Amino acid sequence: MIKKKNLYYPLDEIKKRAWANNPQIYREAAKNPVKFWEKLAKELFWFKSWKKGFLHKAPYFKWFLGGKINITSNIFEKNILGFEKIKNKVALIWEPESLEEKPTILTYGNLFRKVNKLANALLKLGVRKGDRVGIYLPMIPEVIISMLACARIGAVHSVVFSAFSSQALKVRMEDTKAKVLITSDGYYRKGKIINLKQKADQGIKGTNVKKVVVVNRAGNKVGMKKRRDFWWKDLTEKENDWSRPKVMDSEDLLFILYTSGSTGRPKGCEHVTGGYAVQAYWTGKWIFDLKEDDVFWSTADIGWVTGHTYSCYAPLLNGATFLIFEGAPNWPFPDRWAKIIEKYGVTTFYTAPTAIRMFEKLSKSLLKKYSFNTLQILGSVGEPIDETSWLWYFNEIGKGKLPLVDTWWQTETGGVLITSLPGMGPFKPAFTGLPFPGVKIDILDEKGKSLPAGKQGALVILPPFSPGLLRGVYKNPKKYLKTYWTEYSKKVYFTSDTAYKNKQGLLRIVGRVDDVIKVAGHRLTTGELENIITAIPNIAESAVVGKPDKIKGEVPVAFVVLKKPKSQKKVKKEVNSQVLQGIGPIALIKEVFIVRDLPKTRSGKIMRRILKRLFTGEALGDLSTLANPESVEVIKKQLKNSL
Ligand code: PRX
Repeated sequence: MIKKKNLYYPLDEIKKRAWANNPQIYREAAKNPVKFWEKLAKELFWFKSWKKGFLHKAPYFKWFLGGKINITSNIFEKNILGFEKIKNKVALIWEPESLEEKPTILTYGNLFRKVNKLANALLKLGVRKGDRVGIYLPMIPEVIISMLACARIGAVHSVVFSAFSSQALKVRMEDTKAKVLITSDGYYRKGKIINLKQKADQGIKGTNVKKVVVVNRAGNKVGMKKRRDFWWKDLTEKENDWSRPKVMDSEDLLFILYTSGSTGRPKGCEHVTGGYAVQAYWTGKWIFDLKEDDVFWSTADIGWVTGHTYSCYAPLLNGATFLIFEGAPNWPFPDRWAKIIEKYGVTTFYTAPTAIRMFEKLSKSLLKKYSFNTLQILGSVGEPIDETSWLWYFNEIGKGKLPLVDTWWQTETGGVLITSLPGMGPFKPAFTGLPFPGVKIDILDEKGKSLPAGKQGALVILPPFSPGLLRGVYKNPKKYLKTYWTEYSKKVYFTSDTAYKNKQGLLRIVGRVDDVIKVAGHRLTTGELENIITAIPNIAESAVVGKPDKIKGEVPVAFVVLKKPKSQKKVKKEVNSQVLQGIGPIALIKEVFIVRDLPKTRSGKIMRRILKRLFTGEALGDLSTLANPESVEVIKKQLKNSL
């Protein structure tokens, strides 16, 4: 990379290779974003072209109105590279956790057959266009096949992270009213078999789920309920290997993905077929510069939006080869991720700052074993990346030569909206970069006034937004309006992030202003955790805040007020067993502080901000507005003693 005034620009060879290397793209997009996205959309295969590019009836909007499309046709028979060209090409590499087990390698042709077979099996189970199908699967090829099979027949998939608890599954299944769930007997995590079927059985109790498709992954013993549960193999084996793609309207739902909500009930983000396909395809192409001989590895689990877009749809739409893996990147040995990069000649590596910080801890001598010379692009996502980790990733893994795309986006946006492009840059440590061409963003003060460079404010997205942005919160229009479209106006999408830009217009994301905390890049809300904790009978009140953590970015810690005294150790155990049941291991509370009183405003609102500042060292601010300012002093002393 070429360094000019603290900014990095790509070398000529990278520029030349890149799909997007002409700054004219930005100018063209800014002039008429709708026309620009329409031009991009034309590269995909549509059964019928759209009549109107964009329609805005705030807070609702639509893209490619009247267009007819199926995302799987764009992946397979009408892939941009041509089916003949890709049918024998590797689509998916699956690396199992066990070193003894062989990887699975599926060509586009193989994958297509498997998708069709499952699609036909789902049709036989009675799944029709618009029906919701729950997918509760670990990182195995069947999770990709399941999503695509749903998309093939127009069913709406709703993937639930496999490490989520049965309770979390239940809440989601209740909301979607899915009649079919696809799950597995179990899976491997750090050498242990996790019995997923048992969790699934509990999670679907009392829901609408009538049929369960079970993948035989781990061979653990599971109960199979007659006429409800079917082994994947039995259902699909004899099925026809072609299934007609359902002609979908551009605005028909493709999937619902839940993200943490402030009231404890997660929000179902609605993503629609046409707009999402366009955004997944083009962000994959321009940001990761996907080429025919690339091996793309996004380490995100499919249960999160990064998994949906960049461990499935974007590489497939681009006809690329991508990798998914079972287990953890640092198990059974800490450099497993580096070994995988080397084994498969990974060209694009996309991961979260938490993982980068974890890798940074490895000894130099261990990392010296790897040349990383197949890598061409590095990516980061999910949480702010600090300057030290950015530079470590850039210098040690990228050898100072590779573009490092720090991509900002959300479950709601469906695809990346802010990052500098690899063929143009510029890149700056800890800055995420420029808005993607065709995306209009702004930074506003409290009154909605646009702020100049250097000033921090709310990050918002302006019309025409982007084709992939969510169209609603499933069955909850009020929440949609309140969460995203009320802070400024019905025409301004509020991201809940604060940010600022530098003189070159590069954006730096500071963090969330709502009650979302990012734990190892995973999104949780403090309200959701508090609901779970206060369900414990002996806990009168609780406040959860994100405490800064060197590796995970933030970890949740809880302040609790007890009804009857109990030891801290016992309370922590109780709290975490409740959290495990309610969400799963990712949300485990790191520390529990028993306090007498929580700081509150006169209207009774718990001031989490103050509690958080006790950890960050920021000034506590004016405490005189509190109903009980003395509570802060007491907690402060308590923390001093315990830390
Ligand atoms: O706060 C921002 C942070 O993650 C939030 C969205 O979380 P989620 O819906 O789980 O999606 C994560 C993966 C796309 C954002 O509101 N975030 C995401 N990417 C970045 C980021 N913060 C800083 N830098 C990023 N690159």
